[in-house]
Amino acid sequence: MQDLSVYLSANARTMKKSVIRELLKLTNQPDIISFAGGLPAPETFPVEELREATDRVFRQYGDKILQYGTTEGDNDLKAQLVAYETAQGLSLGPQNLLITSASQQALDMLPKLFLDPGDYVIAGRPTYVGAIQAIQSYQGRVLGIPFSSANDGFDMVELEKRYARAVGQKKRIKYIYVIPDFQNPSGICWSLEKRRALIEFAYRENLFIVEDAPYREIRFLGEPIDSLYKLEQQMQNRGIVINLKTFSKILAPGTRIGWVIAREDVIQKMVVAKQAMDLCTSVLTQKMIAEFMATGKLKSIIARTCGIYREKRNFMLEKFETYMPKRFDLTWTKPEGGLFLWLSLPHYIDTDKMFYKAIEKKVAYVVGSAFYFDDPETNSMRINFSYSSFEQIEEGVKRLADTIREEIEAHESGPRGQTAPEDI
Ligand SMILES: Cc1ncc(COP(=O)(O)O)c(C=O)c1O
Repeated sequence: MQDLSVYLSANARTMKKSVIRELLKLTNQPDIISFAGGLPAPETFPVEELREATDRVFRQYGDKILQYGTTEGDNDLKAQLVAYETAQGLSLGPQNLLITSASQQALDMLPKLFLDPGDYVIAGRPTYVGAIQAIQSYQGRVLGIPFSSANDGFDMVELEKRYARAVGQKKRIKYIYVIPDFQNPSGICWSLEKRRALIEFAYRENLFIVEDAPYREIRFLGEPIDSLYKLEQQMQNRGIVINLKTFSKILAPGTRIGWVIAREDVIQKMVVAKQAMDLCTSVLTQKMIAEFMATGKLKSIIARTCGIYREKRNFMLEKFETYMPKRFDLTWTKPEGGLFLWLSLPHYIDTDKMFYKAIEKKVAYVVGSAFYFDDPETNSMRINFSYSSFEQIEEGVKRLADTIREEIEAHESGPRGQTAPEDI
């Protein structure tokens, strides 16, 4: 048999499988309670409404919705999205929109368009693994920036320091990638001040900002903070923000429909990149969503989804309080939106190793190390609260707490136990 690796491109050789997707295979056994996936709750999907919308578009458009469409996207859907975004205070027209096969496609287009091998993207430490994977597959690299201890965005001092060092080393940095609303994996939401500061930084250094915002509308507590796209329009309106949105978390991920908002020349370049990827996004699904949006029900569906997630998040936090060992070095975030909690554990716990013990106890999480481009931190994990039922949340948290407690006890009773200098 031919040796595949001899034939692969340099790009393909550097591509890595998603750790999450590999681990998810292990978690597919029926008796495992999985907090690992980033799955929305199926009870939030408006099945009947979407079926009715599909019936109507079949009746109205017949064979036309089974034909190829334009790469830019369906005009009816774009018109709905212009109205939707305008209502949120953005100033845009259809020429500023590109419909994508959900956000992940946009995340793949951007490094394809912007990066030559070895070029850098600034991103959080940690950050969304699918973005890291896309950057890596074009031989790009990530300049990782830690978050501030206030969890309100990047540590701006570190940003300046690491950026200056990278520039001094002649590294070519092309854009900044951030998820300002309820970041995957950490749940962090950027403050208004930090959002403004990031835009100022990007102006000064002439960088684009990619604002990935799949969870923006999934806010179940507190008040919304202006998006980077909107803020930049209010500041100098230079068009440096590229905003990625998706129906995956506000409607249903199986639709695979997203949209990019950007200045026109960026959209035009993305159209060219998309042509080689899939010619166009599913016309049928675009029309279905346009028809559904025309009913005006999206807002109430999102509100219902946020209500369900608020309950689940509160319930999970309550169970964490009840079952987790009480220690200063075992902490978790209390996000006001999104789908995830981020747990930080005692530094000696390696969640990669502990994962297999958790699987033995029939509970799963995503290892924190998956969310780092390099030099991963290994004592954290991402926990999803949207997918499991209330019963599963309670039982799963119990199992997880037992797993963690056993790790702590094993460490404390071990030979290096209480006397290890790094523990003091
Ligand atoms: C931060 C972030 N960006 C993008 C995506 C991709 O979403 P989709 O391709 O379903 O729109 C996800 C999925 O979970 C995500 O968490």
